[in-house]
Parts: sequence; structure tokens; C-alpha cells
Amino acid sequence: MAELPKNIVILTGAGISAESGLRTFRAEDGLWEDHPVQEVATPEGFARDPDLVQRFYDERRAQVLAAQPNPAHEALGRLEREFAGELLLVTQNIDDLHERGGASRVLHMHGEALSAWCRACDARHPWQGTLRDGPGCPACGEVAMRPDIVWFGEMPYQMERIFDALAGADLFVSIGTSGAVYPAAGFVQQAGEHGARTLELNLERSAGSHWFDETRLGAASELVPQWVNEVLAAG
Ligand code: APR
Repeated sequence: MAELPKNIVILTGAGISAESGLRTFRAEDGLWEDHPVQEVATPEGFARDPDLVQRFYDERRAQVLAAQPNPAHEALGRLEREFAGELLLVTQNIDDLHERGGASRVLHMHGEALSAWCRACDARHPWQGTLRDGPGCPACGEVAMRPDIVWFGEMPYQMERIFDALAGADLFVSIGTSGAVYPAAGFVQQAGEHGARTLELNLERSAGSHWFDETRLGAASELVPQWVNEVLAAG
């Protein structure tokens, strides 16, 4: 790394959890290949067939619970513990593998598989079971729970906080994301415009690869621990 970073923003995507056995979205064997996105990842799809959508996320929740963090998640956990500067970890992932890999301050901009959201009283609850059987909300008792997931056409969580962090970052690192979905795909430009160095760690070049100062290609379980070692050694 050219200069010692003091303020890092990291964005992760499905690629960081691929080696934990969770499928990515846009690969040939990806999640969206099995399901039309409109069906399972939009409010309209949910209104049309709530049972199908609840089953889809019940499955995702079970898979998340069965998965284990890999060395990439663990390296970011170590970075959070040992890095002396500012660090914000933003993930598009709905799994909790960053947290189980030791990171405690994770911003889930697309929601969380292990959370349920009551549309009647707006409460959110940690959730490990199923939703297809229509459980009542622990707060208000209504049967109105949906996955706490940001679907296409909905506003990602905590955008203001993320944009503030991007404006203050001196290093932006994108890990395991295809750069196909906005607003996350635009973070590299925003960080770059504010003067941050930008680094991409991915299996293949992403859609916005040309926006990055540096791209390293390979598996997250190798690239991420390597990069974390570099940052901590420099500090
Ligand atoms: N190591 C590093 N990168 C990997 C690995 C790996 N082991 N395996 C796959 N990748 C890369 C792929 O090459 C691809 O560029 O991870 C990326 C995954 O891209 P997507 O499947 O498009 O996932 P993501 O970018 O997280 O998708 C963004 O789209 O529909 C949604 O809401 C969903 O949060 C998701 C968003």
C-alpha cells in the first residue's frame, strides 16, 4: 500500500461468502438463475405470492445458519480489532458471517436474513426460524412479518451514514461484488471523487473495475488475509 491509510471503508458482496458455501447471485449456478428476480426480490413479487417469497428466504436463513465464516471474514474481524484508524464495514450480504468472523460493527445495507420485520408495528426481531407458517409478531401479535431484506425498488439501509463515511475515507476497498447493483456499485466513484485510493479484491473484474486504482484478482480467502496483513504491518 502506497500510504498508510487512516480511514478505511470496505464494501463486501456475495463473493466473500462464496467459499463458505453460500451461492452468489449472478454466476451461472447463482441464486437468480434459479429464480426470476421479480418473483422473489421485489415488493410486487411478495404481494403476488407471499408464500413463495417466504419459502425462498426461509431457505436462505437456514443456509446462513449452517454456513461458517471463512478466512476472509476472519481477516476483516482481525482488521477491526487491530487497525488503529477509522473503519467502516458495509456489506450487501444478508448473512451474519462478518459478525461470526469477529467484526462487530457491520452495516447491512441490504438487510439481514436473521431478522424479521413486522409491517404492522414496524418492529424488527432477530429471527432464526421460518416465516412461511405466519408467526405473530412478538411485539404486537399481528401476523404481518416479512423478511428484513431490502428488495429491488426499496431504499437500502443507512445510506446517509455510508455516503458520509465515503466522503471521509482515504481508502475504499471493494471485496467480492460484481458491481451490478446500485447504489453500492457507485461507491467506488464517490470515494474516488473525495480523494480516496480505491482497491478491488475479486475473483474477476467487476462491471466498474476501471474505476479502481488497483484490482487484485483471486479468491477472497487468499486476497483478503494478504491485504489485511499488509495494512496491519504498515501501521
Ligand atoms: N472470492 C472473491 N470473489 C468472488 C468469489 C471468491 N471466492 N466467488 C465469486 N466472487 C465474485 C464474482 O466473480 C462476482 O464478481 O463475487 C461477485 C459476486 O457478484 P454477485 O453475485 O453479483 O453478488 P453481489 O455483487 O453481492 O450482488 C449485489 O445484488 O441481487 C442482489 O441484493 C443482492 O446484495 C446483492 C446484490
